[in-house]
Formats: sequence, C-alpha cells, structure tokens
Amino acid sequence: MTKIVFQNVHKFFEDGQKVLNGISLEIEDAETHIILGRSGCGKSVLLKCLLGILPLDDGDILVDDLSVKNKHTYGNYIKKFSILFQGNALFDSMTILENVEFGMKQIKHDSPKIIRSIAEEKLLSVGLESRVFDLYPAEISGGMQKRAALARAIAIEPDILLFDEPTSGLDPVTGGVICNLLKDTVKKLNVTSLTITHDLKVAQFLSDRASILNKGQIVWTGHTREMKNCQNDFVQEFYHASGVISEKSN
Ligand SMILES: Nc1ncnc2c1ncn2[C@@H]1O[C@H](COP(=O)(O)OP(=O)(O)O)[C@@H](O)[C@H]1O
Ligand SMILES: [Mg+2]
Repeated sequence: MTKIVFQNVHKFFEDGQKVLNGISLEIEDAETHIILGRSGCGKSVLLKCLLGILPLDDGDILVDDLSVKNKHTYGNYIKKFSILFQGNALFDSMTILENVEFGMKQIKHDSPKIIRSIAEEKLLSVGLESRVFDLYPAEISGGMQKRAALARAIAIEPDILLFDEPTSGLDPVTGGVICNLLKDTVKKLNVTSLTITHDLKVAQFLSDRASILNKGQIVWTGHTREMKNCQNDFVQEFYHASGVISEKSN
C-alpha cells in the first residue's frame, strides 16, 4: 500500500514568487495520477518538493504516513521512489548495462552476478535487445535511451514511479510507443505512479485521473474524460488548446 498525500503545500522563492500556493491532493495506492499544467506553472518544483530536494515553506507531504520533513525517516521515505527524468539522466561514460547496474548497486546488496542478471532482465523487459547492452547512451536513439532510463528506474523495485515530461524530446511516433510502454509497465508492476506533463494527450492516454495546476493551485481534479465538462475558464482553455484525444500508436 503506497499512498501520497499533499497537505496544503506552499513553496515560495526569494523573489516573492508563490510557485505552490496551497496544494492538497491525495493519490491512492496503485493509482496512476497525472499533474497537468503549462510550462513554468510549478510542476517540476512540486516534484522536487515531493522528493525533498526543495524544502516546503508550509504544509506537508506524506507517503504512507512518513513525512518528507522528518529527517529521521527520510531514508525510508526516499527509498520508495524512482524517477524517470525528462532528459533521461543516463551517465554518458557508462554503457547501457552499467547505467542500470549503477542504480541498483546504490540500493541493493546482491552479488555483482545477480545484479547483472536482473539488469539484463529489466532491459529486455523494456524492449531493448542484448546487442545494445554494451553501447553508450550517445550511440543509441532517444527512444532507446528512454527505455534504458525506464529499465534503470524499475530495476530498484520502487513503490512509486515518477515520470517527468516522459515524451519531451521524442518525435510523436516514438512518444506514443514510449507512452504505451510506460502504461504497460505501471500496470504490470502495480505501482503508484505520478506523471507531470503539459501534454493533455499524454495525460489522457496514461491515466484517467488527473489534476490541473495553475497559478500555484490545483484548479481541477477528476477523470480526464470529464475535463471537457468542467466550467472553470482555465480548464476549458487548457482543454481546447490541447487538441484531440490520442490513439494507441503501436
Ligand atoms: N530554484 C529556484 N529558484 C527560483 N525560482 C525557481 C526555482 N525553481 C523554479 N523556479 C521558478 O518556479 C516556476 C515554476 O518552475 P517549474 O516548476 O520548473 O515549471 P514547470 O511547470 O515548467 O516544470 C518558474 O517561474 C521558475 O522560474
Ligand atoms: Mg518542468
């Protein structure tokens, strides 16, 4: 059981900008939730607050009753998460296989042989063939890099998967393939997941429950298919600016 609770979260910056201005949201165990909002609205700041990278100015974030603010339990708190970064964050000087092993070695105490076999299994499970295991990130396509980063994220067996703009930098076809892979992976692992994106099509495809962030507040939470019925002006504008619902593309 892994539940995430945002309780009246505030985050200000020194220039007086109120980036998060009272965020309250509950994400249930095994839920796939999406936070949608325009560029610059505070999505990455929210993710950094969730991970304890940025301190909160008010409110709290709880994961299974552990607070992000409790220094004594932070080790257990942070162990629950794995994140697929927007830019993949693979190490250029390591091969694809070494990248996946590296993440595991930080967390697991298995023998190098076991770590290697789990890393290989995870890479195969995200659709990468063994011929790419010994290549460097720069030698493979953006879509393959995304797959490798996903393999690294799931190899540590997290309770919560975070996806930051999972399709950015990918062409639409590859983006669709990656969305399908993420959806299948989350379903297979039965983990709680939170995705942040500005792309409504991605949100509609990945999940049925989403929240829209605007001016530091959540202006709408609900099923993506009900978004068009919401009377809030910003939600209507966001919905109509975002185009049509995407089709399964692989
Ligand atoms: N460390 C920081 N110091 C000051 N301002 C910041 C910092 N990080 C983000 N911001 C500001 O917070 C706002 C939200 O940024 P961000 O969360 O990155 O947006 P996005 O929704 O595109 O992910 C932006 O105006 C940004 O300039
Ligand atoms: Mg961002």
